[in-house]
Amino acid sequence: MNVLLIGAGGREHALAWKIAASPVLAKLYCIPGNPGIANVAECRPLDPANHQEIVAFCKEKSIDFVVVGPEAPLVAGIADDLRAAGISVFGPSKAAARLEGSKGFTKDLCARFNIPTGAYQRFNNAEAAKSYVREQGAPIVVKADGLAAGKGVVVAFEIQEALDAVDACFEGAFGGAGAEVVVEEYLDGEEASFFCLCDGKTALPFGTAQDHKRVGDGDTGANTGGMGAYSPAPVMTLDMVDRTVRELIEPTMRGMAEIGSPFSGVLFAGLMITRDGPKLIEYNTRFGDPETQVLMLRLKDDLLLLLKAAADGVLDQMSVRWNDDPALTVVMAARGYPASPEKGSVIKGVEAASNNDAVEIFHAGTAEKNGELVANGGRVLNVTASGKTVRQAQDAAYAAIAKIDWPGGFYRHDIGWRAIAREKGDAL
Ligand code: AMP
Ligand code: GLY
Repeated sequence: MNVLLIGAGGREHALAWKIAASPVLAKLYCIPGNPGIANVAECRPLDPANHQEIVAFCKEKSIDFVVVGPEAPLVAGIADDLRAAGISVFGPSKAAARLEGSKGFTKDLCARFNIPTGAYQRFNNAEAAKSYVREQGAPIVVKADGLAAGKGVVVAFEIQEALDAVDACFEGAFGGAGAEVVVEEYLDGEEASFFCLCDGKTALPFGTAQDHKRVGDGDTGANTGGMGAYSPAPVMTLDMVDRTVRELIEPTMRGMAEIGSPFSGVLFAGLMITRDGPKLIEYNTRFGDPETQVLMLRLKDDLLLLLKAAADGVLDQMSVRWNDDPALTVVMAARGYPASPEKGSVIKGVEAASNNDAVEIFHAGTAEKNGELVANGGRVLNVTASGKTVRQAQDAAYAAIAKIDWPGGFYRHDIGWRAIAREKGDAL
């Protein structure tokens, strides 16, 4: 099979690494890719936003199958344009990607199909939103409706903070994404990420993980795309996975089919495990980043065959096996991330650091300049390791990081703390 992967981050490097190991792969291309991905795929500097250019590339290279990594091309309808050209693709249609592209859409779906989530209201003007905030009181959550690169959510513990967030949205802080606002009940509990491969009818559970969204040690500081993750998520017991599938995922699949937008691709449920069980925080319609990096280290089966089965509508014939050993990834970010990451600092020692069977280093935001590896984004490297325990995986990841010479970068020192506390038997 000739395969094209779309994307340029650590998630795509992990997917490329796993796809490249498939015996059914003939040739792997990546658009646009990065220097790490270039070790396992041929990268081309085309623009994923130019769908006609992507379709033409697929025809020229006899691409049999396209895997779309990030959400933006999906929400823009790249899967529809590829399918219209007769090309098989892993990823939802534009209509199905509304599960990620519009928080209001998803909340309405939850209400209609009885999917557990926080109480909410949608607003298209600041005054009405603010009076609802005052009525409900804090803590309360304010969300820009559309895609805001992970920045459109404010969890407010004071009413004033929520009111300011409403104003910021309607004053254009998130551009068009904030033209509508969802105000939502604050959910208390432990967060977990849950993944399912979907083919429009069947949802096949595809692993659990927990990430660390805050930039600083001890879960402090600004929200980020994720500073590290581990898999599996201890809170996602077999019973909790079963409940999540029955109470959230299956009604979502049925609901999407019923409204004429069957979901195919990967459904990534951001969950709050509350005292009453799993509740939906949000759906993403693509793999998690950096959750994918840890999932790929644990996946025993052929990723390419699984993704193709999802695209072909035959997931009911597939199963998934995982390595029991946990995996953990630490994100190394460029100084200044998330507000204003500095570009261009030189990174040394990555090869030496990955010289351990338990360690894989995925490139997230790197570039090559004059023969040297340099930072080219906010999140730059994902140092990923497996071990018999989360603690062992953590030790291996930080030992690898110690070999990387990058004064322009930083990372959290406590990735996995919650799981490690559980391993030690500490009360949380
Ligand atoms: P999101 O961009 O929707 O993933 O939200 C970012 C983060 O905000 C989530 O990972 C949660 O930690 C938090 N969050 C979002 N919605 C809620 C909610 N209803 N209750 C509590 N925390 C939330
Ligand atoms: N790590 C969270 C996400 O991919 O959205």
